Amino acid sequence: MKEKLVIYPGTFDPITNGHLSIINRALKIFDKMVIAILNNPQKAPLFSLKERTVMIQNVLKNQPRIEVDSFNGLLVDYVISKKTNVVIRGLRALSDFEYEFQMALMNRKLNREVQSIFLMTDYKWFYTSSTIIKEAASLGGDVSGLVPPVVCRKLKEKFGYA
Ligand code: PNS
Repeated sequence: MKEKLVIYPGTFDPITNGHLSIINRALKIFDKMVIAILNNPQKAPLFSLKERTVMIQNVLKNQPRIEVDSFNGLLVDYVISKKTNVVIRGLRALSDFEYEFQMALMNRKLNREVQSIFLMTDYKWFYTSSTIIKEAASLGGDVSGLVPPVVCRKLKEKFGYA
């Protein structure tokens, strides 16, 4: 049987334990995964594409079923270029729903072959996001337990608390 590949797209600025929970659970459904980091400098990320890639590779270095890649342009075009048709996203609190629904519908309008699948985020990560973690870390807050240790270190370095 052909191996089923899923694309997990996002900004991952930086990767959090919430993302990791989605990744680990998605690997119970799919054979392979490409973590596709959006390369969009207009979003002015805290971490460069290179930094985000290295952090993810570092965290997932023992996962042979995962590839870390980046993309720009339309997600649906990227998905097709990887010869698959499934995108996975995590859903947290209600506030995510409208944004995700909008994106999924737009992607479906752009290419009806591409299917969006959602996994509910584990309750432990329901109210965390890269954005709120960055805000806390920028003010010297302790975000360990919310992000992998390597990301925690990088955040401290970035904000001068190392
Ligand atoms: O982690 P994020 O920031 O919520 O991820 C958003 C992402 C990267 C999935 C989304 O912005 C995206 O797919 N961008 C690519 C551009 C695109 O295809 N836009 C049309 C569909 S909304």
